[in-house]
This record gives sequence, C-alpha cells and structure tokens, in this order.
Amino acid sequence: MEAAKQQCVCVTGAGGFIASWLVKLLLSRGHYSVRGTLRDPGHDKNAHLKALDGAGERLQLLKADLMDYGSIAAAVTGCHGVFHVASPVPSGRSTNPEAEIIAPAVTGTLNVLKACYEAKVKRVVLVSSITAVANNPNWPTNKVFDEESWSDEEHCRKNEDWYYLSKTMAEREAFAYAAKTGLDIVTVCPSLALGPLMQPTVNSSSKFLLSYLKGERETVENRLRHIVDVRDVAAALLLAYETPEASARYLCVSPPIKVSEMINILKTLYPTYTYPKSFVEVEDNIICSSKKLLNLGWIFRPIEETLKDSIESYRTIGIVN
Ligand SMILES: NC(=O)c1ccc[n+]([C@@H]2O[C@H](COP(=O)([O-])OP(=O)(O)OC[C@H]3O[C@@H](n4cnc5c(N)ncnc54)[C@H](OP(=O)(O)O)[C@@H]3O)[C@@H](O)[C@H]2O)c1
Repeated sequence: MEAAKQQCVCVTGAGGFIASWLVKLLLSRGHYSVRGTLRDPGHDKNAHLKALDGAGERLQLLKADLMDYGSIAAAVTGCHGVFHVASPVPSGRSTNPEAEIIAPAVTGTLNVLKACYEAKVKRVVLVSSITAVANNPNWPTNKVFDEESWSDEEHCRKNEDWYYLSKTMAEREAFAYAAKTGLDIVTVCPSLALGPLMQPTVNSSSKFLLSYLKGERETVENRLRHIVDVRDVAAALLLAYETPEASARYLCVSPPIKVSEMINILKTLYPTYTYPKSFVEVEDNIICSSKKLLNLGWIFRPIEETLKDSIESYRTIGIVN
C-alpha cells in the first residue's frame, strides 16, 4: 500500500479487551495507521499491542487519560476517524461511582467528541452497550429490544446500576453533541462480549465466563444471555466506520442462549471444569435484535467457536488448567 493512501485513525483505551481486537483488525487491513491511547503505555499489560503484525510501522501508542482534554486532543489531531472504546467497566461495586465510573464515561466521552470536532474528524464510532438499551421498565413486555429503546436513567440510579447509567448517559450526551455540532457519530451497543483475550489481564466480561468454570456458583439463574464474540464486535465497529450510510445506533448481539445450554456446550468441550450444578428459571428475560446491524452486512460466529476460543486463551495465559 502506498503511503499516500494510508488513513490515520485513533482507538481510545487501545489495550482493553475489545480495543485490542479492533487495533489488530485495523492493522490487518494494511491501509490504516493507528494511534492507540493508553493511560500507561509502558505497562506490561499493553505489551501485546507492540507485537501485532504491522505495529512496528503503523501503530503509535500515546499516553492519554479521558479526563485530560489536552492529552485526548493531541491523540486525535490529524486523524480521519476515531473509535472511542475506553470507558470504566467495573467488575465489583464502586465506593465512589460518580468519580470512578460516571465522570470518565460521560465527561471522558465529551472530551473525546469535543477534541474530534475541533480536529475535524470525519466520523466517530462510539462503543456504547446493551446496558444503555435494555434497562427500560417502560418497554412493552415481550417486545424485542431494538435501537429505539433507551435505558431509564432514574431506574438505573434507583437500582445503583452505575455502569448502566454511565453508558446510557454517555451515549445520550454523544447524540446531543452530534445534534448540536453536526459531528458524525455512530454508536455500537454490544451485549456481553466473550472470546479470546489478547491482553494478559482478565476484563470484566471474561470474568463472567470464568466464574462458570471455577465452581464459584453452585446455582445460577437460567437467563437468556446475549453473548457476542469480541472479534465480531471489532468487525461491527469497523463496519460502522467504513459504511458511509451507517447512522445513529446499532445493537450488536448474537441470538440469545439459555445459561444451561451454554453450560452444556462447555461441558461437551471441556468436561473437567467445576460447573454450576443447578439452575433457577426466571421470567424477565430480555431479547434484543441486531437486525439493523445485520442489514449493514454484519456477520457473527457460532457460540461454540466463541466459547472454545475463549477457554483456549485462558489456558494459554494460565488462568485455568
Ligand atoms: N466487554 C463487554 O462485555 C462489553 C459489552 C458492551 C460494551 N462494552 C464497552 O466496550 C468498551 C471496552 O470494554 P472492554 O470489555 O474491552 O473493557 P476493558 O478491557 O476493561 O477496557 C476498558 C478500557 O478503558 C480504559 N479506561 C478506563 N478509564 C479510563 C480513563 N479515565 N482514561 C483512559 N482510559 C480509560 C481502560 O484503560 P486502562 O487499561 O488504563 O485501565 C481500558 O483500556 C467499554 O466502553 C465498555 O463499556 C463492553
């Protein structure tokens, strides 16, 4: 590829679970030069990025914090497109949710968007979440959730679902900013993402699967779960970026599966782990549709592949035997 055809894009929080796969995908295309922002570029947990094919020539890692506007502005200046992936994803309860979760998500997103607007970035793809969609008590019972539904902020606050609240507020603020300034913003709302870990640390959604292998829970709710492969999320983000007619939000989920069914697949593939022994049926299942994203040409892989590749990566890292 000639240097003149290279296009510069920025990925925030480049060392995270989803962002690492996105960086890999972008580099594999050959015509993107990628700027990845990290809070600590020298940390071992980010070393995998430098080992990616093409990284030597086309990946630049920059130190930036979402709460530091200047660092974000420096990272996006000169970029054609920006993928805003970074956001706190807590795995336990926070003692100070406003400072630890809400502010980096909401103020952080506004900092990224303002910097993109100032830098005349052509399109921003924002990673939102199904948690910004489906926590909506006003949605009709039995109606499949789609892009029209927004999680209810008061409901999230009342239930202290701080992560849900942070994603809902950040995505709403993003569209308000787009309406005010004309900045081209497309959002992608993935469900629970699983798949191989590229980084040596375990992110929150992978902990969910690990908890089923390690005998941490004897009895679990037999919920319908929408699981999506992390590699398919990365592909959805790139599709949203590269498709000129893409607009507004896209739910990014694969078909729902009962937890018991998922455990049965795991047991067949890996019989020796300590799985939950019993299941409690629940009524309030949530069903979401990715029809809009599928119409854009998105494809997702079978759950068996996602589960197998996840566990193989946990074995490689040494998190499970
Ligand atoms: N995994 C899922 O199931 C899932 C589903 C739906 C949506 N999402 C969304 O996808 C995105 C990535 O999630 P993930 O699962 O890949 O989580 P992750 O591995 O924990 O990545 C989160 C990233 O955000 C960065 N970050 C957090 N606070 C920051 C701050 N103040 N300044 C700069 N960077 C900051 C982290 O950087 P450090 O390494 O420096 O901490 C990390 O790189 C998030 O927006 C999340 O809400 C995830």
